[in-house]
Amino acid sequence: MTIAYLNGEFVPLEEARISPMDRGFLFGDGIYEVIPSYNGQLVGFKRHMQRLDQGLAAIQLENPLTADKWHTLFSKLTAQNAGDYQGVYLQVTRGTSPVRNHRFPVDCQPTVFAYTFTVNAPCNGDPDKATCYQVATATDRRWKRCDIKSVALLGNVLHMMEGVDSGADEIILFNEQEELTEAAACNVFIVQNKTVITPPLDIEKLPGVTRNMLVDILRGDGWSVEERAVSRTEVMAADEVWLTSSTKEIAPVIAIDGHSVSGGKAGAVWAAAQSLFAHHRYSA
Ligand SMILES: Cc1ncc(COP(=O)(O)O)c(C=O)c1O
Repeated sequence: MTIAYLNGEFVPLEEARISPMDRGFLFGDGIYEVIPSYNGQLVGFKRHMQRLDQGLAAIQLENPLTADKWHTLFSKLTAQNAGDYQGVYLQVTRGTSPVRNHRFPVDCQPTVFAYTFTVNAPCNGDPDKATCYQVATATDRRWKRCDIKSVALLGNVLHMMEGVDSGADEIILFNEQEELTEAAACNVFIVQNKTVITPPLDIEKLPGVTRNMLVDILRGDGWSVEERAVSRTEVMAADEVWLTSSTKEIAPVIAIDGHSVSGGKAGAVWAAAQSLFAHHRYSA
């Protein structure tokens, strides 16, 4: 049984109830985060809290809890749920209003929800334990505020299904200029002659916590890392391609649109990067 948190109470997930008039349900008017917790230790907690603040500020919603209170809540939640490897999902919506109206209602209490789910143990750079991805590609058709971690994910959902329907596990997206943006649920990196390259942050991409941690960790270790526009041609010709997200850490891409990448297996640069990430994941 999964224990969830809803508006101040810990309840079995299947008993948690919200109103159909909740603006998260009606408008996707809310922000979420996913934070890994390994053996009770949160990965990237401060960075997730900073991004939560940014997301809430972007939709003019006050953070209902302090970072300390969030931390206590997550500790209680992970302790009450089974498993050494959990993902903590949190969501704050604008709350419930009796009238459906696009305008923000006055006097609305935010709905605060969190629960945990099981995630894979991180592979720490062992290629035999890596989950490798075969990806499709598409033109990015989402909105122009992909920097906001909004619960309104229909654009991402439809892109993910485009990938799944073509037999892939994820889908890498390119803007109208054929420059890499991100994937349906991950950021993307390429490796070119040992240089690690990822697109710069802007309204076309989520500022991924794993992305930012990885850039800092690699630079801190003296690697050559570039944040710059990446063309479709460069992605297709890259030595290695990686996906990053909180629940995947760094995942090797082994095929794009049916074309093999890095010989169809996790690359050596990936193994070094993922094991370095594992070394610094609690301190970065
Ligand atoms: C669209 C998108 N980009 C990137 C990411 C990676 O972000 P993070 O590393 O913070 O999990 C996610 C994660 O859910 C995502 O949904």
